[in-house]
Amino acid sequence: MIPDSFKQDLLNRVDIVDVVSRYVQLKKGGANYQGLCPFHTEKSPSFTVSPAKQFYHCFGCGAHGNAIGFVMAYGSMGYVDAIKDLAASAGMTVPEIQRSPQENQRRERETDLYAVMEKAMEFFRTHLKDSPKAIGYLKSRGLTGEVAARFRIGYAPDDWQGLKTVFPDYDDKSLAETGLVIDNEAGRRYDRFRDRVMFPIFSQRGSVIGFGGRVMGEGEPKYLNSPETALFEKGRELYGLMQARDAIRTAGRVLVVEGYMDVVALAQYGVGYAVATLGTATTPTHITKLLRLADEIVFCFDGDSAGRKAAWRALEVSLPLAVDHKPMRFLFLPAEDDPDSYVRKHGQEAFERLAREAQTLSGFLMGELRGQADLGTAEGRSKFLTEAKPHLEKITAAGLKLQLVKEVASLAQVSQDEAERLMGLRATGERSYARAAPSRAPAPLITSQEQKLLRCVLAKPSLATGLDPDLLDERLGETAALKAIAGWVEEDPASGEAIIVERAQGSEHEAVVFRAQAAMLDHGPGEESAEPEFRQILLSLSIKRKNEEIETLKREAASRPGLGAELLRRTNELAVLKSQRM
Ligand code: GTP
Ligand code: MN
Repeated sequence: MIPDSFKQDLLNRVDIVDVVSRYVQLKKGGANYQGLCPFHTEKSPSFTVSPAKQFYHCFGCGAHGNAIGFVMAYGSMGYVDAIKDLAASAGMTVPEIQRSPQENQRRERETDLYAVMEKAMEFFRTHLKDSPKAIGYLKSRGLTGEVAARFRIGYAPDDWQGLKTVFPDYDDKSLAETGLVIDNEAGRRYDRFRDRVMFPIFSQRGSVIGFGGRVMGEGEPKYLNSPETALFEKGRELYGLMQARDAIRTAGRVLVVEGYMDVVALAQYGVGYAVATLGTATTPTHITKLLRLADEIVFCFDGDSAGRKAAWRALEVSLPLAVDHKPMRFLFLPAEDDPDSYVRKHGQEAFERLAREAQTLSGFLMGELRGQADLGTAEGRSKFLTEAKPHLEKITAAGLKLQLVKEVASLAQVSQDEAERLMGLRATGERSYARAAPSRAPAPLITSQEQKLLRCVLAKPSLATGLDPDLLDERLGETAALKAIAGWVEEDPASGEAIIVERAQGSEHEAVVFRAQAAMLDHGPGEESAEPEFRQILLSLSIKRKNEEIETLKREAASRPGLGAELLRRTNELAVLKSQRM
């Protein structure tokens, strides 16, 4: 759990107008800013950002939230990541998160394992210096000492128990847990990596989590990788990411290649923004990670049929994750080359030109689909529509989807409308919303007293503790939200509006709280007017309640004499209440 006080600080520090305008062009209009909503397709701006209230609201699709919510929805990232991202942009560090003892124990264990990996890496690096054979191999592949150092490349000596020199307790279980050794059936333990050039794999935070070891010359397997361990999960990690980070930010682009040597050779030739998948296909986790760092992803594949197959798989994984403002491209090298050989033959400039001119995701998709159908016949065109359907369905980026629908329609010689109907793309309604658009509830026509109270409480959360729940209509979502807020304020009396909305986000109260906040864009109490308004609403609710009680008593008095005194008391109370009315 990230402490609320930190979230409050963070939300105080960042300005939602800055955060949003990094991605959306905003224009000032009155007290607020307007722009085209990034969460749905629109021609006139209904997306509003309130600098005073620090939230955004789209009158078109209902998207709503604060700075954290925006980063989550726009960057399609999780809550904690969004906070970390925002904190980094504000120069703040997220405080240590409170953990259970078990969690602490696990982490301590992990720290040990990281230390083991670090030590092994240093061992391999030391041995590289002593191995003319390994140095010669790297030289023969065109690498300088500088780039070898940058990637911490090492050499595992040709020794069954080489690691024993740095791990005297060679039987320790951490060596098996990190995958550095193998225990055979006879109970003998030996080094997994022997006589190989070693490429350490780093986590994003810069810890060694695995290795890839290449044989020099011929031999099987060509690359031996660390097994999956507590530290290392292949589908999540990317080789070279730590080294590429700055270059990715500068270039705004990341290049995804297949091999260790491709990353290293590209870096050597000045293309520092390449990373490699670790012998696995590209996963959604990879793409999500990279979309956070870069404005553009270029997938680079060998030009052969295996490369095209791998590219198609990457495309299929990418479709649901594509976002309109972050293009993805597919670069196919000439059949005889991989990035390593290409950049060495033709140099940085030629390679970067290829990357810039690489086929777009839509171009690649359409090209493949067209290739499979004969658009010259009615049957071919209808087959084309059928084949296009599952791919278009997967796309959540509204703009990209629209463009592709239009293109598919035109190629299939039908109207856009017909194409959408034929492919069933309208099943969920007219508009297609981007993923993660926050939940929304239809606005009620009449504003209830409870909703007005909620607005006051948002403007000044400490008021919530003064609520009398008996006065509120149990059936309303606002009542439940007000009760929840009262609880939150009791836990932390310093909670401001930002924190309250923050807590509501993702809870069952999200929709009503967002709706109340959005309503405050035009007519909401300010912090000063909130309290008197709150009192007046409670007062009129009390009067209403008192009137009801009196009515009930009057009805009962007909059959039960002796209620006169009670009735008189209530009537007096009512008069007192009424006198307080402003
Ligand atoms: P070089 O031959 O050194 O240029 O390597 P490369 O990167 O061109 O290798 P290749 O295209 O053959 O393979 C790409 C990636 O697949 C490598 O970087 C490894 O991650 C992985 N890979 C290749 N060969 C093997 C293998 O034999 N075993 C395993 N586990 N992975 C391999
Ligand atoms: Mn290669």
